[in-house]
Amino acid sequence: MTDDSLSSHLHEMDLSPDSAFTAQANGTADLYDAAAADHEAFWAEQARSRISWATDFERTLDWDDAPFAKWFVGGSLNVAHNCVDRHVEAGNGDRVAIHFEGEGGDTRTITYADLQKEVSKAANALESLGVETGDRVAVYMPMIPETVFTMLACARIGAPHSVIFGGFSAEALHTRIADAEAKVVVTTDGQWRRGKPAPLKAAVDAAIHHGDDESPVEKVLVVKRTDTDVEWDDSRDVWWHDLVPGQPDTHEAQPMDSEHPLFILYTSGTTGKPKGIFHTTGGYLTQAAYTNAVVHDVHPETDVYWCTADVGWVTGHSYIVYGPLANGATQVLYEGTPDTPHQGRWWEIVEKYKVSILYTAPTAIRTFMKWGADIPAKFDMSSIRVLGSVGEPINPEAWLWYRKHVGGDKAPIVDTWWQTETGAIMISPLPGVTTLEPGSAQKPIPGISAEILDDDGNPFTEPEKVGYLVLTKPWPSMLRGIWGDPERYKETYWSRFGPKYYFAGDGAKYDEKGNIWLLGRVDDVMNVSGHRLSTAEIESALVSHPSVAEAAVVGAADETTGQAVCAFVILRGDAVDNGEETVQELRNHVAKEIGPIAKPRQVMIVPELPKTRSGKIMRRLLKDVAENREVGDVTTLADSSVMSLIKEGMSSGSSD
Ligand code: WT7
Repeated sequence: MTDDSLSSHLHEMDLSPDSAFTAQANGTADLYDAAAADHEAFWAEQARSRISWATDFERTLDWDDAPFAKWFVGGSLNVAHNCVDRHVEAGNGDRVAIHFEGEGGDTRTITYADLQKEVSKAANALESLGVETGDRVAVYMPMIPETVFTMLACARIGAPHSVIFGGFSAEALHTRIADAEAKVVVTTDGQWRRGKPAPLKAAVDAAIHHGDDESPVEKVLVVKRTDTDVEWDDSRDVWWHDLVPGQPDTHEAQPMDSEHPLFILYTSGTTGKPKGIFHTTGGYLTQAAYTNAVVHDVHPETDVYWCTADVGWVTGHSYIVYGPLANGATQVLYEGTPDTPHQGRWWEIVEKYKVSILYTAPTAIRTFMKWGADIPAKFDMSSIRVLGSVGEPINPEAWLWYRKHVGGDKAPIVDTWWQTETGAIMISPLPGVTTLEPGSAQKPIPGISAEILDDDGNPFTEPEKVGYLVLTKPWPSMLRGIWGDPERYKETYWSRFGPKYYFAGDGAKYDEKGNIWLLGRVDDVMNVSGHRLSTAEIESALVSHPSVAEAAVVGAADETTGQAVCAFVILRGDAVDNGEETVQELRNHVAKEIGPIAKPRQVMIVPELPKTRSGKIMRRLLKDVAENREVGDVTTLADSSVMSLIKEGMSSGSSD
């Protein structure tokens, strides 16, 4: 579709809520009024109505020591009790919690009663390995039920988990284990990827035996998933199947303080060192449950919900584990890739389990667009009634395709903006309430306040002017800090526009109707397939290669992945440029240092990098080159001939 026909098509569509949908929706228009009338009373009501507290809280919000928030002060609760036990106690033990679908077609149905037993056994097992309240547990696992059991078992004990995405390398794993001082690691022998086993435990071994550092890891608990050969250390390694099944299937869940840390999740920032974002108990669970109810519109008695994210990212934490399970929902957990064994696998799963709510990422939708609409057309997807999108802006064309070919031309699409730091959805339409606007996340949900500021930090509302998105009031699932680095927390999020505003790092604008449009990151953070990567982290991986003198990385627009990693590299004087071979070596080096997700699409060997007089690399100009554009204003360059040198002398290689 051309841009013109796309916009006239959009113009003709009626995207106001369907009255039958509205009649049953969890979200209602008066939530906005209630939240605006009394912000704290609104959240106190959400906390009390959606969550079971062992001790009620005395104060809703303590912001005296801003930006360090305390929510639901004095309250205590157990997250695993809320996500599991209370549903069994309420008589819903027979309800399916998880329909697990393995990549190879093996399945497992787990009811809430089963889940209670599995989580209890896992909690007893972790305790037998010495895990106590407050200890950190690293989780490096694929998308299998044991991963969910492990996370909930940690929550049950009050041992914060740090889940590390299975696509990260041993190097990345090492940094994260060391930073959180994890005492136990839970992993698998391997993971299935496109029908083949890929080793996982081997990376844990390498992370533990990293250099001369003494590892904090005392025990490694290993699930057998792929029958991959593993090296074994008898004093440290324990098979899950030897330890867990024999444990008692009951476990007393102790209430934790509302502000007890629930988990740490590492995310990329603007420097090379990843940030351990940490979340706590009561506020996080409240907002995860609330948003899953009013934004995804989950009705636990009737819906089958499926969030396709990996548990290694925040989306998997909030919208596979904590939100839906706190609400007692039935969900699908799928282990594999979308094209194994065929490109209709997802739609086959939708048909099989009658999935009614699907939550996924624009990059996946664009991939399906490439594969063709005839693929989903082969399956019965009439069960779908709500669609969600997350991770990056969804372009109107992908929005329309999603609505038509997945949503039967009727399902509302919720474009949800949020971050690892925000813990839960912040900006999104409410299905059944909001008239949709394809491409825009639209407005803050009830209970959340956002503004757009200009360069001087002044809020404005005029349409089409580009500014910075900020959040103006504390919210229950906000990060409580960066693990071990309170100064970096203040500096990163609460200083750019002063202590009153949380600076999200995203550019944004309003349209004529007052909808918010997110315009991508304004800092040196890239978004590749909805995964956050830092330019600095990849640059430091590149310069750790003996042939590299200097490196600059930019995120260039990419049709499928949103952005793609493009690296510009200056080789050392004594290094030999073997053209394509050198390029591939450097790409593989990044994959080894950080993980395959960070592997540059392109590496360009250049004689110089464009720098300002103060030595700052002008990534904007490199982006022009990477996106094949006429190079912009070069007047602030120390040496303005550099750009032509780059364009002439560039030898580049591209992706597999
Ligand atoms: C960054 C956060 C939210 C969980 C997954 C990513 C971008 C996220 C949207 C959206 C436009 C979006 C932002 C944000 N982003 N959702 N609906 N529209 N941009 O979490 O890795 O912490 O990344 O993802 O740039 O800052 P994350």
